[in-house]
Amino acid sequence: MDSIVVTGGGPLAGEIPIAGAKNACLALMPATLLSEEPLTLTNTPRLSDIKTMTTLLQSLGAEASALQDGQVIAMSSHDLSSTRADYDIVRKMRASNLVLGPLIARCGHAEVSLPGGCAIGARPMDLHIHGLELLGAEIDLRDGYLHAKAPNGLKGAEIELAFASVGATENIVMAATLAKGTTVLTNAAREPEIVDLVTCLKQMGAQIEGEGTHRIEIQGVDRLHGATHQVVADRIELGTYMLAPAIAGGEVECLGGTIDLLSAFVERLDAAGIAVEETARGLKVARKADRVRAVDVTTEPFPGFPTDLQAQIMAMLCTAEGTSELNETIFENRFMHAPELTRMGAQIEVHGGTARVTGVERLKGAPVMATDLRASVSLILAGLAAEGETVVNRVYHLDRGYEHVVRKLSGVGAQIERVKA
Ligand code: UD1
Repeated sequence: MDSIVVTGGGPLAGEIPIAGAKNACLALMPATLLSEEPLTLTNTPRLSDIKTMTTLLQSLGAEASALQDGQVIAMSSHDLSSTRADYDIVRKMRASNLVLGPLIARCGHAEVSLPGGCAIGARPMDLHIHGLELLGAEIDLRDGYLHAKAPNGLKGAEIELAFASVGATENIVMAATLAKGTTVLTNAAREPEIVDLVTCLKQMGAQIEGEGTHRIEIQGVDRLHGATHQVVADRIELGTYMLAPAIAGGEVECLGGTIDLLSAFVERLDAAGIAVEETARGLKVARKADRVRAVDVTTEPFPGFPTDLQAQIMAMLCTAEGTSELNETIFENRFMHAPELTRMGAQIEVHGGTARVTGVERLKGAPVMATDLRASVSLILAGLAAEGETVVNRVYHLDRGYEHVVRKLSGVGAQIERVKA
């Protein structure tokens, strides 16, 4: 298996292009199932998760192909041949469950494997199921699969989510676009990826209001048509690369994205002593002092601090002046990077959902490995300023969510290479 070798070095300088959002794209691609006409996405990221979703759509009989070096995905679901999302695909990627709502809405039935838990938590689907049942779907769990049918079609309903789940909001909104009548979804998730999905659905002819707020209202229509949609910038990739100069020093301009995608994160960077400036092309980030200051962080649904940037900011706080407290409120087991960072000399104590990080002057390179995507990249970030060599193993996690990580970081002066196994 390949590994990534990072040698800690001096300040970074230059530009890093930011790709389209993985998490937006993974919700936008299943939207093709809602229409017989083609859906084309532009600004798509080149990632293994996107390939997995492509394979899943193809297994349902949809056409899906990557064009222009993977930055465009052209899809058509004119003729679907299956409504079964197989365990072999779903187990690789939880977001496969986003075909459930569109398949029931378009075909009246679906069999979707339950994804099971993953390293960061149990991640059940009860909120998706409850919402779709209120829309009129009958859903049973048999043989590890959700068997869903809507013999009388879907009907608009009032649905209140017990928690503002991103995936449940996406599944329910997609299903409701073709339901009869009005659906009002309250305590909906407000993430920019949901706004992006709704923008695309509206282009396809859906009638939706309130995206980006806790109350989304959907007026069902008989059919959706084709569209071409540009995927929003990946705020998690953006935040990750903003931390590179924060950790290694220097100044980097991230091309793509705006502060409003990451306001709580930018506010924490500011408190830590990192300057962030919005430019015409993206965000420019510079470290003002030799060391950053400790800051406390609590993860929350959008617009709060994203859980998907918790591991990366922890890498920065390992060398901050003072002690920081990180509270993880979204996933129950999302500190697996802490013991790996400790192997690099970090001082971290974890108690339940809280990690206390006492900054040391410098980390030391070490062989490390991670069990999830964001944890892997946090180890690369930590290695940028560590003394000596950090070897990050299990890089297949990175390939799921970061395109060209070596090219992007070496482009701003980092010493980083991928070593083939
Ligand atoms: C999405 C993102 C993921 C991000 C997460 C939170 C995608 C493809 N993935 O995941 O990167 O970390 O949002 O911002 O967009 N929950 C339930 N029951 C449910 C659904 C969720 O209890 O039916 C719980 C989960 O276990 C978790 C919390 O709600 O503890 C948040 O999950 P959710 O917002 O649904 O995240 P995902 O859509 O899976």
